[in-house]
Amino acid sequence: MGFLNSQLVETSKLPYPSSSYAGQTIVVTGSNTGLGKEAARHYARLGAARLILAVRNLEKGHAAKEEILATTATTTAAAAAAVKGSMAIDVWELDMAQYASVQAFGARVDDELERLDIFHANAGLVCPKYSTAEDNETMVTVNYISTFLLAALVMPRMKATAARFQGIRPTLIITSSGAHEHTKFPQMSAADNNILAAVNDPNYAGGAHWKEQYPVSKLLGVFAVRSIAKEHPADAYQVTVNLANPGLCHSDLARGAEGFQRVAFSLMKAAVARTAEQGSRTLVDAGVQGAKSHGQYLDNCRIALPSAVVLQNGEVQDRLWVELKATLEAIQPGVTSNF
Ligand SMILES: NC(=O)c1ccc[n+]([C@@H]2O[C@H](COP(=O)([O-])OP(=O)(O)OC[C@H]3O[C@@H](n4cnc5c(N)ncnc54)[C@H](OP(=O)(O)O)[C@@H]3O)[C@@H](O)[C@H]2O)c1
Repeated sequence: MGFLNSQLVETSKLPYPSSSYAGQTIVVTGSNTGLGKEAARHYARLGAARLILAVRNLEKGHAAKEEILATTATTTAAAAAAVKGSMAIDVWELDMAQYASVQAFGARVDDELERLDIFHANAGLVCPKYSTAEDNETMVTVNYISTFLLAALVMPRMKATAARFQGIRPTLIITSSGAHEHTKFPQMSAADNNILAAVNDPNYAGGAHWKEQYPVSKLLGVFAVRSIAKEHPADAYQVTVNLANPGLCHSDLARGAEGFQRVAFSLMKAAVARTAEQGSRTLVDAGVQGAKSHGQYLDNCRIALPSAVVLQNGEVQDRLWVELKATLEAIQPGVTSNF
């Protein structure tokens, strides 16, 4: 009932973004399509000074930029910003399946952005078949490890923005998912420093849990954001880090699904899915929630409780945080001190 109420009743109540983003610099990853593109369109319409579309395919990114410009050129805030010559949309390359690309992107943020007000770590994917990228299953690499590597890499620029501009508290939003509730996460019973190995193992419990791999990849992100906030509480931190659940939305996310899975998902989406624009409102709203949302999971633009697995397993959260930090340190020594 909660899911249906959310999709069929709450959707119409999602606030249409209306704040001004004049002067602000905003990055949206995975913004050539789907929720990321719609969030970026809101920011362009509302006059962001600088908008970075972070995409793995530059051609698709430029096509999205042209579309966004064409559909927002006549809005008051965007037009005013453009007349003043203060609005720019840039397309930057970022492949979350390659750590080197994430590192290069992080270095570029540090080198080229004067300020960073809002960062949407939105890029994500569903892989119907087992594959690997870098040293993990692909969804684990893209939706979890690279997402938090990126968060660590952009954090210095966000902290510097808070220090330099009075009254600005930057926000880093992880696009989460209600799907994180769809697993009991049996891999948590693995020995210390072996939870990720269990998650990466396609034959864990005879492969019985592969269908939960996307939920697990999103669950790991919920644990990580809570760990960041536990280590760095809101009152001692200049940046808000939160999670936004956009709800079930029409997008390209299930593009790889086949057979029965594809038909079932299409039918469910046809019946209850939000448009990508409606879902994107939850992401944009997370950027204005402020300090009270630090470490929190937002559902329908309100602070909500994550799954029971998260709430009942604080010790697993701590163990995962140790594993995640060790993984990030192995990729780039010292990077976790950025948090
Ligand atoms: N749609 C839903 O119902 C729903 C519900 C809850 C949460 N979410 C989450 O919302 C976020 C956006 O998904 P969406 O629904 O908008 O799906 P989408 O239309 O498939 O968009 C996903 C975006 O992520 C990008 N991406 C995928 N792998 C990448 C990689 N290795 N490096 C860089 N970018 C990569 C995609 O780029 P390409 O186009 O080049 O592949 C695309 O821009 C995801 O994190 C997803 O888990 C979606």
